[in-house]
Amino acid sequence: MPQRYFCYVFHSAPIFFTICFREVRMKIAISPDAPSAIETPLLVVPVADNGDKTPLPELLSSDPALQALAAPLIAAADLTGKFVESVWLLSPSGVKAQRVLFLGAGKRDKFCLTEIRNFAGAAARAAKSKNIKSFVLVLPAIVDLAAAAQAATEGVVTGDFDVDTYRSDRKDQLLSDVTLVVPGKTDAKPIYLATAEGAILAESQNLTRELALEPSNLMTPTILADRARAMCEEAGLACEIYGPDKIKELKMGAFLSVSQGAGEEPRLVVMRYEPAEAPASPVLGLVGKGITFDTGGISIKPADGMEKMKYDMCGAATMIGAMRAIAMLKPNVRVISVLCCSENMPDGKAQKPGDVQFAMNGKSIEVINTDAEGRLVLADGLCYARQLGATHLIDAATLTGAVVVALGYHNVGVFTNNEDFAESFLDSTLRTGEKMWRMPVDQDYFDHIRSEIADIKNTGGRWGGAITAAMFLKEFVEDKPWIHLDIAGTAWLEENKAWMPKGPSGVAVRSLVDFARHFAPTSK
Ligand code: BES
Ligand code: MN
Ligand code: ZN
Repeated sequence: MPQRYFCYVFHSAPIFFTICFREVRMKIAISPDAPSAIETPLLVVPVADNGDKTPLPELLSSDPALQALAAPLIAAADLTGKFVESVWLLSPSGVKAQRVLFLGAGKRDKFCLTEIRNFAGAAARAAKSKNIKSFVLVLPAIVDLAAAAQAATEGVVTGDFDVDTYRSDRKDQLLSDVTLVVPGKTDAKPIYLATAEGAILAESQNLTRELALEPSNLMTPTILADRARAMCEEAGLACEIYGPDKIKELKMGAFLSVSQGAGEEPRLVVMRYEPAEAPASPVLGLVGKGITFDTGGISIKPADGMEKMKYDMCGAATMIGAMRAIAMLKPNVRVISVLCCSENMPDGKAQKPGDVQFAMNGKSIEVINTDAEGRLVLADGLCYARQLGATHLIDAATLTGAVVVALGYHNVGVFTNNEDFAESFLDSTLRTGEKMWRMPVDQDYFDHIRSEIADIKNTGGRWGGAITAAMFLKEFVEDKPWIHLDIAGTAWLEENKAWMPKGPSGVAVRSLVDFARHFAPTSK
Protein backbone atom coordinates (compact mmCIF):
# COMPACT_ATOMS: atom_id res chain seq x y z
CA MET A 1 0.00 0.00 0.00
CA PRO A 2 1.57 3.31 -0.97
CA GLN A 3 2.01 5.72 1.87
CA ARG A 4 0.55 9.06 1.06
CA TYR A 5 0.66 12.26 2.96
CA PHE A 6 -1.84 14.97 2.47
CA CYS A 7 -2.54 18.28 4.03
CA TYR A 8 -5.74 19.86 5.04
CA VAL A 9 -5.73 23.47 4.01
CA PHE A 10 -7.77 26.15 5.56
CA HIS A 11 -7.69 29.35 3.62
CA SER A 12 -9.35 32.36 5.06
CA ALA A 13 -7.72 35.66 5.87
CA PRO A 14 -6.27 36.15 8.39
CA ILE A 15 -6.01 32.48 9.28
CA PHE A 16 -4.03 30.07 7.17
CA PHE A 17 -2.94 26.77 8.55
CA THR A 18 -2.39 23.23 7.48
CA ILE A 19 -2.15 19.95 9.35
CA CYS A 20 -0.83 16.77 7.83
CA PHE A 21 -2.41 13.35 8.23
CA ARG A 22 -1.11 10.10 6.94
CA GLU A 23 -3.21 8.36 4.36
CA VAL A 24 -5.69 11.14 3.90
CA ARG A 25 -6.16 11.04 0.19
CA MET A 26 -8.56 13.80 -0.65
CA LYS A 27 -7.84 17.42 0.14
CA ILE A 28 -10.64 19.05 2.09
CA ALA A 29 -10.56 22.82 2.30
CA ILE A 30 -12.84 25.36 3.92
CA SER A 31 -13.66 28.71 2.43
CA PRO A 32 -15.58 31.67 3.81
CA ASP A 33 -15.83 33.30 0.37
CA ALA A 34 -19.03 34.07 -1.52
CA PRO A 35 -19.79 30.90 -3.54
CA SER A 36 -20.32 32.85 -6.76
CA ALA A 37 -16.80 34.31 -6.46
CA ILE A 38 -15.02 30.94 -6.32
CA GLU A 39 -13.42 29.57 -9.47
CA THR A 40 -14.16 25.87 -9.74
CA PRO A 41 -15.26 23.25 -12.26
CA LEU A 42 -18.40 22.67 -10.16
CA LEU A 43 -20.32 24.54 -7.49
CA VAL A 44 -22.94 22.49 -5.62
CA VAL A 45 -25.71 24.48 -3.94
CA PRO A 46 -28.31 22.92 -1.63
CA VAL A 47 -32.00 23.60 -2.10
CA ALA A 48 -34.30 22.61 0.75
CA ASP A 49 -38.05 22.17 0.76
CA ASN A 50 -39.76 24.35 3.33
CA GLY A 51 -43.26 23.31 2.35
CA ASP A 52 -45.73 21.12 4.14
CA LYS A 53 -47.83 19.47 1.43
CA THR A 54 -46.81 21.50 -1.63
CA PRO A 55 -43.10 22.18 -2.12
CA LEU A 56 -41.71 25.51 -0.98
CA PRO A 57 -38.13 25.47 -2.24
CA GLU A 58 -35.51 27.53 -0.47
CA LEU A 59 -31.96 28.05 -1.68
CA LEU A 60 -29.60 27.43 1.26
CA SER A 61 -27.32 30.27 0.23
CA SER A 62 -27.94 33.98 0.36
CA ASP A 63 -25.50 34.66 -2.49
CA PRO A 64 -27.43 37.05 -4.79
CA ALA A 65 -25.94 35.62 -7.99
CA LEU A 66 -27.11 32.13 -7.01
CA GLN A 67 -30.49 33.45 -5.93
CA ALA A 68 -30.86 35.03 -9.37
CA LEU A 69 -30.01 31.75 -11.11
CA ALA A 70 -32.41 29.74 -8.97
CA ALA A 71 -35.40 32.08 -9.12
CA PRO A 72 -36.69 31.14 -12.60
CA LEU A 73 -36.10 27.44 -11.93
CA ILE A 74 -38.10 27.66 -8.73
CA ALA A 75 -40.84 29.64 -10.49
CA ALA A 76 -41.03 26.94 -13.19
CA ALA A 77 -41.15 24.21 -10.49
CA ASP A 78 -38.00 22.70 -12.02
CA LEU A 79 -36.43 23.07 -8.61
CA THR A 80 -38.52 21.73 -5.72
CA GLY A 81 -35.90 20.84 -3.12
CA LYS A 82 -36.79 17.13 -3.21
CA PHE A 83 -33.93 15.11 -1.77
CA VAL A 84 -31.06 14.67 -4.30
CA GLU A 85 -33.10 16.24 -7.13
CA SER A 86 -30.46 17.65 -9.52
CA VAL A 87 -30.54 20.66 -11.82
CA TRP A 88 -27.32 21.37 -13.72
CA LEU A 89 -26.37 24.72 -15.23
CA LEU A 90 -23.44 25.08 -17.63
CA SER A 91 -21.46 28.36 -17.67
CA PRO A 92 -24.15 30.24 -15.78
CA SER A 93 -23.89 34.01 -15.67
CA GLY A 94 -22.80 35.89 -12.59
CA VAL A 95 -20.76 33.05 -11.08
CA LYS A 96 -17.15 32.03 -11.61
CA ALA A 97 -17.88 28.30 -11.50
CA GLN A 98 -17.97 26.42 -14.81
CA ARG A 99 -21.03 24.51 -13.68
CA VAL A 100 -23.61 24.92 -10.96
CA LEU A 101 -25.51 21.97 -9.56
CA PHE A 102 -28.61 22.80 -7.54
CA LEU A 103 -29.01 19.70 -5.41
CA GLY A 104 -32.17 18.91 -3.45
CA ALA A 105 -31.68 18.70 0.31
CA GLY A 106 -35.19 17.43 1.08
CA LYS A 107 -37.53 18.66 3.80
CA ARG A 108 -35.87 21.41 5.77
CA ASP A 109 -37.25 20.28 9.12
CA LYS A 110 -35.91 16.75 8.54
CA PHE A 111 -32.49 17.94 7.45
CA CYS A 112 -30.12 16.50 10.04
CA LEU A 113 -26.62 15.03 10.00
CA THR A 114 -27.61 11.84 8.17
CA GLU A 115 -29.18 13.93 5.41
CA ILE A 116 -26.13 16.19 5.22
CA ARG A 117 -23.85 13.13 4.96
CA ASN A 118 -25.97 11.63 2.19
CA PHE A 119 -26.43 14.98 0.47
CA ALA A 120 -22.67 15.51 0.33
CA GLY A 121 -22.16 11.93 -0.87
CA ALA A 122 -24.67 12.56 -3.66
CA ALA A 123 -22.75 15.74 -4.61
CA ALA A 124 -19.53 13.73 -4.79
CA ARG A 125 -21.08 11.02 -6.95
CA ALA A 126 -22.69 13.60 -9.21
CA ALA A 127 -19.27 15.21 -9.74
CA LYS A 128 -17.65 11.84 -10.42
CA SER A 129 -20.33 10.93 -12.95
CA LYS A 130 -19.12 13.88 -15.04
CA ASN A 131 -15.48 13.11 -14.36
CA ILE A 132 -15.10 16.28 -12.32
CA LYS A 133 -12.39 15.82 -9.71
CA SER A 134 -12.65 19.02 -7.79
CA PHE A 135 -15.75 20.80 -6.56
CA VAL A 136 -17.07 23.36 -4.13
CA LEU A 137 -19.97 22.54 -1.84
CA VAL A 138 -22.03 25.16 -0.05
CA LEU A 139 -22.32 23.63 3.40
CA PRO A 140 -25.95 23.57 4.47
CA ALA A 141 -25.58 25.46 7.74
CA ILE A 142 -28.80 24.29 9.33
CA VAL A 143 -27.31 22.45 12.30
CA ASP A 144 -24.09 22.93 14.25
CA LEU A 145 -21.48 23.93 11.66
CA ALA A 146 -18.66 21.72 12.84
CA ALA A 147 -20.96 18.69 13.00
CA ALA A 148 -22.28 19.55 9.53
CA ALA A 149 -18.74 19.86 8.16
CA GLN A 150 -17.80 16.49 9.64
CA ALA A 151 -20.90 14.79 8.21
CA ALA A 152 -20.35 16.42 4.81
CA THR A 153 -16.73 15.26 4.75
CA GLU A 154 -17.81 11.73 5.66
CA GLY A 155 -20.36 11.82 2.86
CA VAL A 156 -17.91 13.08 0.26
CA VAL A 157 -15.18 10.58 1.17
CA THR A 158 -17.51 7.57 1.39
CA GLY A 159 -19.24 8.74 -1.81
CA ASP A 160 -15.87 8.69 -3.58
CA PHE A 161 -15.62 4.89 -3.28
CA ASP A 162 -15.74 2.97 -6.58
CA VAL A 163 -16.47 -0.74 -6.98
CA ASP A 164 -15.06 -1.39 -10.49
CA THR A 165 -11.61 -2.43 -9.23
CA TYR A 166 -10.93 -5.09 -11.84
CA ARG A 167 -12.58 -3.63 -14.92
CA SER A 168 -9.98 -3.14 -17.62
CA ASP A 169 -11.79 -0.02 -18.84
CA ARG A 170 -11.76 1.42 -15.34
CA LYS A 171 -11.20 5.16 -15.33
CA ASP A 172 -9.66 6.84 -12.35
CA GLN A 173 -12.54 8.96 -11.14
CA LEU A 174 -11.26 9.65 -7.66
CA LEU A 175 -11.85 13.16 -6.41
CA SER A 176 -8.79 15.26 -5.75
CA ASP A 177 -10.19 18.04 -3.60
CA VAL A 178 -13.39 19.44 -2.19
CA THR A 179 -13.97 22.87 -0.68
CA LEU A 180 -16.73 23.44 1.84
CA VAL A 181 -18.14 26.96 1.86
CA VAL A 182 -18.97 28.12 5.38
CA PRO A 183 -20.52 31.41 6.50
CA GLY A 184 -17.95 34.23 6.58
CA LYS A 185 -17.92 35.07 10.26
CA THR A 186 -17.27 31.68 11.83
CA ASP A 187 -14.51 30.32 14.00
CA ALA A 188 -12.65 28.17 11.50
CA LYS A 189 -10.67 25.91 13.78
CA PRO A 190 -13.45 23.62 15.09
CA ILE A 191 -14.84 23.28 11.57
CA TYR A 192 -11.47 22.45 10.20
CA LEU A 193 -10.79 19.84 12.89
CA ALA A 194 -14.21 18.33 12.29
CA THR A 195 -13.42 17.81 8.59
CA ALA A 196 -10.14 16.15 9.56
CA GLU A 197 -11.98 13.76 11.87
CA GLY A 198 -14.65 13.09 9.27
CA ALA A 199 -12.00 12.21 6.70
CA ILE A 200 -10.25 9.78 9.06
CA LEU A 201 -13.52 8.05 9.89
CA ALA A 202 -14.67 7.86 6.29
CA GLU A 203 -11.33 6.68 4.94
CA SER A 204 -11.29 3.96 7.59
CA GLN A 205 -14.80 2.98 6.56
CA ASN A 206 -13.57 2.88 2.95
CA LEU A 207 -10.70 0.59 3.95
CA THR A 208 -13.27 -1.85 5.36
CA ARG A 209 -15.24 -1.62 2.11
CA GLU A 210 -12.11 -2.10 0.00
CA LEU A 211 -11.26 -5.33 1.87
CA ALA A 212 -14.84 -6.59 1.66
CA LEU A 213 -15.03 -5.97 -2.08
CA GLU A 214 -12.08 -8.23 -2.88
CA PRO A 215 -12.99 -11.66 -4.27
CA SER A 216 -12.00 -14.67 -2.19
CA ASN A 217 -9.18 -15.74 -4.54
CA LEU A 218 -7.53 -12.38 -3.87
CA MET A 219 -8.55 -12.14 -0.22
CA THR A 220 -7.54 -15.36 1.50
CA PRO A 221 -7.15 -15.57 5.30
CA THR A 222 -3.40 -15.02 4.81
CA ILE A 223 -3.96 -11.93 2.67
CA LEU A 224 -6.57 -10.55 5.06
CA ALA A 225 -4.13 -10.95 7.95
CA ASP A 226 -1.39 -9.28 5.91
CA ARG A 227 -3.69 -6.36 5.14
CA ALA A 228 -4.40 -6.02 8.86
CA ARG A 229 -0.66 -5.96 9.52
CA ALA A 230 -0.07 -3.36 6.80
CA MET A 231 -2.73 -1.13 8.33
CA CYS A 232 -1.19 -1.60 11.79
CA GLU A 233 2.28 -0.69 10.52
CA GLU A 234 0.99 2.49 8.95
CA ALA A 235 -1.17 3.51 11.87
CA GLY A 236 1.37 2.57 14.55
CA LEU A 237 -0.40 -0.40 16.13
CA ALA A 238 1.09 -3.65 17.38
CA CYS A 239 0.02 -6.65 15.35
CA GLU A 240 0.52 -10.40 15.75
CA ILE A 241 -0.48 -13.05 13.25
CA TYR A 242 -0.76 -16.76 14.04
CA GLY A 243 -1.27 -19.81 11.83
CA PRO A 244 -2.73 -23.29 12.43
CA ASP A 245 0.02 -24.49 14.81
CA LYS A 246 -0.56 -21.70 17.30
CA ILE A 247 -4.34 -21.98 16.89
CA LYS A 248 -4.04 -25.67 17.76
CA GLU A 249 -1.70 -24.92 20.67
CA LEU A 250 -4.25 -22.45 22.04
CA LYS A 251 -6.80 -25.30 21.90
CA MET A 252 -9.10 -23.33 19.63
CA GLY A 253 -10.85 -26.46 18.38
CA ALA A 254 -13.97 -24.65 17.23
CA PHE A 255 -12.06 -22.10 15.14
CA LEU A 256 -9.73 -24.72 13.69
CA SER A 257 -12.56 -27.06 12.69
CA VAL A 258 -13.85 -24.54 10.14
CA SER A 259 -10.61 -24.54 8.15
CA GLN A 260 -10.31 -28.36 8.17
CA GLY A 261 -11.73 -28.70 4.68
CA ALA A 262 -10.06 -25.62 3.23
CA GLY A 263 -7.05 -25.31 0.96
CA GLU A 264 -6.07 -22.04 2.62
CA GLU A 265 -4.59 -21.91 6.13
CA PRO A 266 -6.49 -20.04 8.84
CA ARG A 267 -5.07 -16.93 10.45
CA LEU A 268 -5.58 -15.52 13.92
CA VAL A 269 -4.84 -11.80 14.08
CA VAL A 270 -4.35 -9.66 17.18
CA MET A 271 -4.19 -5.87 16.80
CA ARG A 272 -3.40 -3.77 19.84
CA TYR A 273 -3.97 -0.12 20.60
CA GLU A 274 -2.38 0.40 24.01
CA PRO A 275 -1.58 4.05 24.79
CA ALA A 276 0.92 4.23 27.63
CA GLU A 277 -1.04 6.80 29.62
CA ALA A 278 -4.35 4.89 29.44
CA PRO A 279 -5.50 3.12 32.61
CA ALA A 280 -4.95 -0.66 32.76
CA SER A 281 -8.70 -1.18 32.74
CA PRO A 282 -11.14 -1.12 30.99
CA VAL A 283 -9.90 -2.90 27.88
CA LEU A 284 -12.25 -2.97 24.93
CA GLY A 285 -12.04 -6.21 22.92
CA LEU A 286 -13.21 -6.08 19.31
CA VAL A 287 -13.69 -9.51 17.72
CA GLY A 288 -14.35 -9.98 14.01
CA LYS A 289 -15.59 -12.90 11.90
CA GLY A 290 -13.22 -13.23 8.96
CA ILE A 291 -14.58 -16.01 6.74
CA THR A 292 -13.00 -15.11 3.40
CA PHE A 293 -15.40 -17.47 1.66
CA ASP A 294 -18.34 -19.38 3.08
CA THR A 295 -19.45 -22.28 0.88
CA GLY A 296 -21.31 -23.70 3.86
CA GLY A 297 -18.83 -26.60 4.03
CA ILE A 298 -20.39 -30.09 3.84
CA SER A 299 -23.78 -28.49 4.61
CA ILE A 300 -23.18 -26.73 1.32
CA LYS A 301 -25.07 -23.64 0.26
CA PRO A 302 -27.11 -23.46 -2.95
CA ALA A 303 -25.20 -22.09 -5.96
CA ASP A 304 -27.59 -19.20 -6.46
CA GLY A 305 -26.03 -16.12 -4.86
CA MET A 306 -23.14 -18.03 -3.33
CA GLU A 307 -20.67 -15.53 -4.83
CA LYS A 308 -21.80 -13.06 -2.21
CA MET A 309 -20.16 -15.15 0.48
CA LYS A 310 -16.87 -13.42 -0.31
CA TYR A 311 -18.09 -10.74 2.05
CA ASP A 312 -18.35 -13.12 4.98
CA MET A 313 -15.16 -11.51 6.29
CA CYS A 314 -16.89 -8.18 6.88
CA GLY A 315 -16.77 -8.51 10.66
CA ALA A 316 -12.97 -8.70 10.51
CA ALA A 317 -12.80 -5.92 7.90
CA THR A 318 -14.97 -3.76 10.15
CA MET A 319 -12.53 -4.18 13.03
CA ILE A 320 -9.55 -3.37 10.77
CA GLY A 321 -11.26 -0.13 9.71
CA ALA A 322 -12.25 0.72 13.27
CA MET A 323 -8.74 0.06 14.66
CA ARG A 324 -7.26 2.32 12.00
CA ALA A 325 -9.47 5.25 13.00
CA ILE A 326 -8.89 4.54 16.70
CA ALA A 327 -5.12 4.60 16.12
CA MET A 328 -5.39 7.96 14.36
CA LEU A 329 -7.90 9.64 16.69
CA LYS A 330 -6.13 8.34 19.81
CA PRO A 331 -8.76 7.95 22.53
CA ASN A 332 -7.29 7.37 25.99
CA VAL A 333 -8.40 3.78 26.32
CA ARG A 334 -6.98 0.35 25.57
CA VAL A 335 -8.46 -1.51 22.64
CA ILE A 336 -7.44 -4.94 21.39
CA SER A 337 -8.90 -6.66 18.40
CA VAL A 338 -8.99 -10.37 17.54
CA LEU A 339 -9.77 -11.52 14.00
CA CYS A 340 -10.62 -15.12 13.18
CA CYS A 341 -9.83 -15.62 9.50
CA SER A 342 -10.67 -18.83 7.66
CA GLU A 343 -12.30 -20.28 4.60
CA ASN A 344 -15.28 -22.59 5.01
CA MET A 345 -14.84 -25.27 2.35
CA PRO A 346 -15.89 -28.90 1.83
CA ASP A 347 -13.14 -31.40 1.05
CA GLY A 348 -12.32 -34.88 2.27
CA LYS A 349 -10.94 -33.49 5.51
CA ALA A 350 -13.83 -31.12 6.14
CA GLN A 351 -15.77 -31.40 9.36
CA LYS A 352 -19.08 -33.19 9.07
CA PRO A 353 -22.49 -32.71 10.65
CA GLY A 354 -22.53 -34.47 13.99
CA ASP A 355 -18.84 -33.89 14.70
CA VAL A 356 -18.02 -32.66 18.19
CA GLN A 357 -15.46 -29.87 18.62
CA PHE A 358 -13.92 -28.37 21.76
CA ALA A 359 -13.57 -24.63 22.12
CA MET A 360 -10.63 -23.13 24.02
CA ASN A 361 -12.73 -22.72 27.20
CA GLY A 362 -13.32 -26.49 27.15
CA LYS A 363 -16.95 -26.33 26.06
CA SER A 364 -17.99 -29.15 23.71
CA ILE A 365 -19.95 -28.26 20.60
CA GLU A 366 -21.99 -30.60 18.41
CA VAL A 367 -21.76 -29.29 14.86
CA ILE A 368 -25.23 -29.88 13.44
CA ASN A 369 -24.68 -27.67 10.40
CA THR A 370 -21.23 -26.85 9.06
CA ASP A 371 -22.71 -23.67 7.54
CA ALA A 372 -23.13 -22.24 11.04
CA GLU A 373 -19.35 -21.66 11.05
CA GLY A 374 -19.21 -18.02 12.09
CA ARG A 375 -20.22 -18.79 15.64
CA LEU A 376 -17.56 -21.53 15.79
CA VAL A 377 -14.69 -19.19 14.94
CA LEU A 378 -16.10 -16.40 17.13
CA ALA A 379 -16.47 -18.73 20.12
CA ASP A 380 -12.68 -19.06 20.30
CA GLY A 381 -12.10 -15.43 19.27
CA LEU A 382 -14.22 -14.20 22.18
CA CYS A 383 -12.44 -16.52 24.64
CA TYR A 384 -9.07 -15.38 23.37
CA ALA A 385 -9.94 -11.68 23.64
CA ARG A 386 -10.83 -12.29 27.30
CA GLN A 387 -7.58 -14.19 27.84
CA LEU A 388 -5.70 -11.20 26.39
CA GLY A 389 -7.32 -8.98 29.00
CA ALA A 390 -10.44 -7.58 27.37
CA THR A 391 -12.88 -6.50 30.06
CA HIS A 392 -15.64 -5.59 27.57
CA LEU A 393 -16.38 -7.34 24.29
CA ILE A 394 -17.96 -6.33 21.01
CA ASP A 395 -18.08 -8.70 18.07
CA ALA A 396 -19.16 -7.99 14.51
CA ALA A 397 -20.13 -10.73 12.10
CA THR A 398 -22.13 -11.49 8.98
CA LEU A 399 -23.56 -14.22 11.14
CA THR A 400 -27.06 -15.20 10.01
CA GLY A 401 -29.50 -15.04 7.15
CA ALA A 402 -32.12 -14.92 9.90
CA VAL A 403 -31.14 -11.37 10.89
CA VAL A 404 -31.93 -10.32 7.31
CA VAL A 405 -35.37 -11.93 7.66
CA ALA A 406 -35.89 -10.10 10.96
CA LEU A 407 -34.55 -6.63 10.11
CA GLY A 408 -34.09 -6.53 6.34
CA TYR A 409 -31.21 -4.59 4.90
CA HIS A 410 -31.69 -1.47 7.00
CA ASN A 411 -30.69 -2.24 10.57
CA VAL A 412 -27.79 -4.03 12.22
CA GLY A 413 -29.01 -6.54 14.81
CA VAL A 414 -27.70 -5.69 18.30
CA PHE A 415 -27.54 -8.38 20.97
CA THR A 416 -26.17 -8.00 24.48
CA ASN A 417 -25.87 -9.48 27.95
CA ASN A 418 -25.56 -6.03 29.53
CA GLU A 419 -28.20 -3.29 29.26
CA ASP A 420 -25.99 -0.32 30.15
CA PHE A 421 -23.22 -1.37 27.80
CA ALA A 422 -25.67 -1.74 24.92
CA GLU A 423 -27.42 1.53 25.71
CA SER A 424 -24.21 3.50 25.54
CA PHE A 425 -23.31 1.76 22.29
CA LEU A 426 -26.70 2.68 20.86
CA ASP A 427 -25.99 6.30 21.85
CA SER A 428 -22.97 6.08 19.56
CA THR A 429 -25.11 4.80 16.70
CA LEU A 430 -27.44 7.77 17.15
CA ARG A 431 -24.48 10.13 16.81
CA THR A 432 -23.09 8.38 13.74
CA GLY A 433 -26.44 7.77 12.06
CA GLU A 434 -25.82 4.05 11.61
CA LYS A 435 -29.11 2.28 12.08
CA MET A 436 -29.04 -0.56 14.60
CA TRP A 437 -31.83 -2.34 16.43
CA ARG A 438 -31.88 -4.19 19.76
CA MET A 439 -32.86 -7.85 19.63
CA PRO A 440 -33.84 -9.98 22.62
CA VAL A 441 -31.37 -12.26 24.36
CA ASP A 442 -33.07 -14.40 26.96
CA GLN A 443 -32.70 -17.87 28.34
CA ASP A 444 -35.80 -19.29 26.59
CA TYR A 445 -33.82 -19.26 23.36
CA PHE A 446 -31.01 -21.22 24.93
CA ASP A 447 -33.15 -24.38 25.06
CA HIS A 448 -32.90 -24.54 21.27
CA ILE A 449 -29.15 -25.02 21.29
CA ARG A 450 -28.96 -27.77 23.92
CA SER A 451 -27.28 -30.89 22.59
CA GLU A 452 -27.78 -34.50 23.70
CA ILE A 453 -24.16 -35.44 23.21
CA ALA A 454 -22.31 -32.20 23.98
CA ASP A 455 -22.64 -28.96 25.97
CA ILE A 456 -24.27 -27.11 23.07
CA LYS A 457 -25.00 -27.51 19.38
CA ASN A 458 -24.27 -24.95 16.72
CA THR A 459 -27.79 -24.43 15.34
CA GLY A 460 -31.06 -23.73 17.04
CA GLY A 461 -33.51 -24.54 14.29
CA ARG A 462 -35.34 -22.32 11.90
CA TRP A 463 -37.09 -19.80 14.12
CA GLY A 464 -35.30 -16.94 15.81
CA GLY A 465 -32.07 -18.01 14.12
CA ALA A 466 -30.28 -14.72 14.71
CA ILE A 467 -31.08 -14.93 18.42
CA THR A 468 -30.09 -18.57 18.90
CA ALA A 469 -26.81 -17.70 17.17
CA ALA A 470 -26.30 -14.90 19.70
CA MET A 471 -27.15 -17.31 22.54
CA PHE A 472 -24.38 -19.56 21.26
CA LEU A 473 -21.82 -16.72 21.34
CA LYS A 474 -22.95 -15.71 24.81
CA GLU A 475 -21.66 -19.07 26.10
CA PHE A 476 -18.12 -17.85 25.42
CA VAL A 477 -18.11 -14.38 26.97
CA GLU A 478 -18.60 -15.56 30.58
CA ASP A 479 -19.32 -12.57 32.83
CA LYS A 480 -17.95 -9.87 30.53
CA PRO A 481 -20.26 -7.15 29.19
CA TRP A 482 -20.72 -8.04 25.54
CA ILE A 483 -22.40 -6.76 22.40
CA HIS A 484 -22.86 -8.82 19.26
CA LEU A 485 -23.50 -7.02 15.97
CA ASP A 486 -25.05 -9.17 13.25
CA ILE A 487 -24.22 -7.24 10.08
CA ALA A 488 -25.30 -9.94 7.57
CA GLY A 489 -28.05 -7.70 6.13
CA THR A 490 -26.25 -4.37 6.29
CA ALA A 491 -22.59 -4.95 5.39
CA TRP A 492 -23.52 -5.05 1.70
CA LEU A 493 -25.69 -2.39 0.11
CA GLU A 494 -28.09 -4.17 -2.24
CA GLU A 495 -28.90 -1.24 -4.48
CA ASN A 496 -27.22 1.90 -5.74
CA LYS A 497 -27.95 5.01 -3.73
CA ALA A 498 -27.34 8.54 -4.95
CA TRP A 499 -24.66 8.83 -2.25
CA MET A 500 -23.14 5.31 -2.29
CA PRO A 501 -22.69 2.61 -4.89
CA LYS A 502 -24.15 -0.86 -4.45
CA GLY A 503 -21.58 -3.00 -2.66
CA PRO A 504 -19.82 -3.08 0.71
CA SER A 505 -21.13 -0.45 3.11
CA GLY A 506 -18.54 -0.36 5.89
CA VAL A 507 -21.37 -0.25 8.42
CA ALA A 508 -20.48 -0.14 12.14
CA VAL A 509 -16.97 1.28 11.70
CA ARG A 510 -17.97 4.81 12.67
CA SER A 511 -20.10 3.67 15.61
CA LEU A 512 -17.35 1.43 17.00
CA VAL A 513 -14.88 4.31 16.84
CA ASP A 514 -17.32 6.74 18.42
CA PHE A 515 -17.96 4.17 21.14
CA ALA A 516 -14.26 3.66 21.83
CA ARG A 517 -13.81 7.44 22.13
CA HIS A 518 -16.65 7.76 24.62
CA PHE A 519 -15.51 4.63 26.43
CA ALA A 520 -12.25 6.43 27.23
CA PRO A 521 -12.45 7.28 30.95
CA THR A 522 -10.98 10.78 30.47
CA SER A 523 -13.61 11.82 27.98
CA LYS A 524 -16.47 11.05 30.35
N1 BES B 1 -22.36 -16.27 6.43
C1 BES B 1 -23.63 -16.83 6.69
C2 BES B 1 -24.70 -15.81 7.01
C3 BES B 1 -25.06 -14.82 5.94
C4 BES B 1 -26.22 -14.96 5.21
C5 BES B 1 -24.29 -13.69 5.71
C6 BES B 1 -26.58 -14.03 4.27
C7 BES B 1 -24.64 -12.77 4.76
C8 BES B 1 -25.79 -12.93 4.05
C9 BES B 1 -23.53 -17.78 7.86
O1 BES B 1 -22.31 -18.41 8.05
C10 BES B 1 -24.54 -18.85 7.64
O2 BES B 1 -24.40 -19.59 6.72
N2 BES B 1 -25.53 -18.91 8.52
C11 BES B 1 -26.56 -19.89 8.40
C12 BES B 1 -26.81 -20.46 9.77
C13 BES B 1 -27.70 -21.65 9.76
C14 BES B 1 -27.04 -22.83 9.07
C15 BES B 1 -28.04 -22.01 11.18
C16 BES B 1 -27.81 -19.18 7.89
O3 BES B 1 -28.06 -18.06 8.29
O4 BES B 1 -28.50 -19.77 7.06
MN1 MN C 1 -22.18 -20.18 6.89
ZN1 ZN D 1 -20.69 -17.45 7.27
